[in-house]
Order: sequence, then structure tokens, then C-alpha cells
Amino acid sequence: MKKTVLVSGGAGFIGSHVTVELIQAGYEVVVADNMSNCDLTCFEGVKKITGRDDIPFEKTDFCDAAAADALFAKYPIDAVIHFAAFKAVGESVAKPVMYYKNNLGSFLNVLEAAGAHGCHNVLFSSSATVYGEPDVVPVTERSPRKPATSPYGATKQMCEDILRDTVRATAGTPGEIKGILLRYFNPIGAHPSALIGELPRGVPNNLVPFITQTAIGKRECLSIFGNDYPTPDGTCQRDYIDIVDLAKAHVCAVARMMDGKMTEGCEVYNIGTGRPVSVLELVNAFQKVNGLKLNYRFAPRREGDVTAIWADPSLANKVLGWKAGRSVEDTLAAAWAWEKHLAGK
Ligand code: WQD
Repeated sequence: MKKTVLVSGGAGFIGSHVTVELIQAGYEVVVADNMSNCDLTCFEGVKKITGRDDIPFEKTDFCDAAAADALFAKYPIDAVIHFAAFKAVGESVAKPVMYYKNNLGSFLNVLEAAGAHGCHNVLFSSSATVYGEPDVVPVTERSPRKPATSPYGATKQMCEDILRDTVRATAGTPGEIKGILLRYFNPIGAHPSALIGELPRGVPNNLVPFITQTAIGKRECLSIFGNDYPTPDGTCQRDYIDIVDLAKAHVCAVARMMDGKMTEGCEVYNIGTGRPVSVLELVNAFQKVNGLKLNYRFAPRREGDVTAIWADPSLANKVLGWKAGRSVEDTLAAAWAWEKHLAGK
């Protein structure tokens, strides 16, 4: 019988790509989202890509404990992948209570409902932000977690701890919960169909949506934040991971949980490429692969940015049997195709 996976926050950027990969791998997926930061564009795209018009969709706010419980009562959920969270770093600094309430509250309700309804597998969408400014790069899963520099980052660390504690407390009991923490580096790009992608509201905070919106003429000029960092070209380095590659990591992780292959109650994996790319390199790659010129200028450093961080993804490569495969050029071509799709071009 097909296994059922609940994707909380499944109508968003990462959730929609994960839903596609899960369905294509043969899972039943229940998509739930409160639609606070997205519309139905990506869910409609998911239905088109998969050719499935019958994917269950629930408008659920996971901060509502009764609603979370009702969802687990309604479907035979074997595993949950939890994305439903706020994710804007700057906003979290301005509105900490809102961030803690939403990101912790929704996850606690998911865990409680999973426990109450015999769902034993929980995958949490974490972030490289938990490493802060690393002393050594690339970072491995054993690199220290530094104090969070924003409430957003703190919620990721706290949810990691909440899942670890839950796994420890339930080990060997009938309500046993197994956990996987996936720490994403910088997810970018879009599905090659150009039917789903990132849909930022207002002025984008993240680099690639800002680049594509500048290229299409929605923004006048990209500001590159800082060119005096101690890196080869003076701009920050990150590990930009293709969104479809990232989505596939979830399929590998869910399969490992469901097939009873986990060797620890709570496992953690870096999901990145292992390849550092600077802001300037990314901008140049975008221009080259798409054959266009981007209007950009150098601007002061952005507060809170780390100089350089990239993953050592060897644990995920070995244990999950997963590897990032797409080139940064292909990923940037997909991001541009998606921006053009949105503009109706
Ligand atoms: C990347 C680089 C900027 C915009 C954040 C979160 C992280 C994760 C992903 C998810 C940096 C530079 C950016 C611009 C620029 N969160 N930049 N001009 O900061 O690495 O990670 O997003 O939900 O937890 O912290 O990603 O895309 O914002 O920035 O020069 O207009 O691009 O300085 O070096 P970041 P980003």
C-alpha cells in the first residue's frame, strides 16, 4: 500500500517542489497550508506537473491545535514533513513574538498530533543558519551550532531541540517518534517545467529572486551587499542548492525513515552542494547563461551576513544516497524561466 506523507506548508516554494518529487516517487501526499505567505499558484503547478488533479489540499493553520489534530485524524499519515513557518530573517528581528509563536507553536502542535495519531516519522526543515558564522568551512553536521543571530534562526535551533527531545522521550514506547533534521543551505531555482518556483511577496530579501526581478525590470538595480569581505573576490560565499535537488533529498530521507533504516532516533544531514559560490560569481553566471546584462552596484555590507558558509554534504551523499546534481548555470536558467513565466513571457 502507498504510504502517505503530510507536507505542512506544502503550497510554498520548498513544499511544492517536495510534493512533486514525493508524488513522482510513488507516495500519497496531503498538502496543508494556511496560505499566509503564498497563493494557490504553486499548488496548481504541482497538479499540472504530476498530472494529478486529486491531491488532497487542506487549508490548515498548524497554530490551531484542534485543526492540526483533525488533520491527523482525517488521513492515515505515515510521515510528516514540516515546512509551515515564517522565514524572513529581518522581519523576525522586528517581530520576535510573532515568529516564536508561529514557528514553535505550529511545530509543537504537529508533534502532539503526530504522537496522538500514531504517526512515527517527523522530518523537520532546518537551516544552515543554525551554524551561525562558522570557524571552519565547509561545515559538517558536527560543526558547533552558534548562538542564533535572529529570532528566525533561534526558532530553527529550538525546533531541532524539540524534535531531539521528543525522539529521546518516546524511544522504545508505542508512540515512538523518529526524526530527521535537514539543514538546507541556500535553496534557489525553480522546477524545469517553470510551473512552480519562488513567489516572494513585496521586495525580495533573498539574492536570486532579487536578481530575476531586476532582470525582468521589476527592480531597478541589484545591490551587492559588501565587496570587502575576506573572500577571493570580496563578496560573500554561499552554497546555492538547486530546489529540485533539495526536494529529492526529502524523498531519500522519507524512504530511509519508512524503510526502518535509521541508525539513530534523530538524524541530521546537511543539504548542500559542497561548492562555495560568491555573490559576484552567481551574478556573472546568471548573466552568462541567460545572455543578458544585469544592472548591479556594490553597496555596504548587510547587517548579520556571515562571510562564507558552505556544506560538507558527504554524510547525506553516503547515508541518504543523495547528491546535488544540477549545475548552478542550469539552476539560474530555471530561475529565469520561472520569472518569465510569472511575467507571462
Ligand atoms: C545570499 C547572499 C547577501 C540580497 C538566508 C537565511 C537562511 C535561509 C536562506 C530561509 C548574501 C547577498 C542578497 C541582495 C545581496 N533562509 N545579497 N543582495 O542570507 O545567505 O540566507 O536565506 O528561508 O536562513 O539567513 O541568503 O539570499 O538573503 O543572501 O548582495 O539583494 O547574497 O549579502 O551574501 P542568506 P540571501
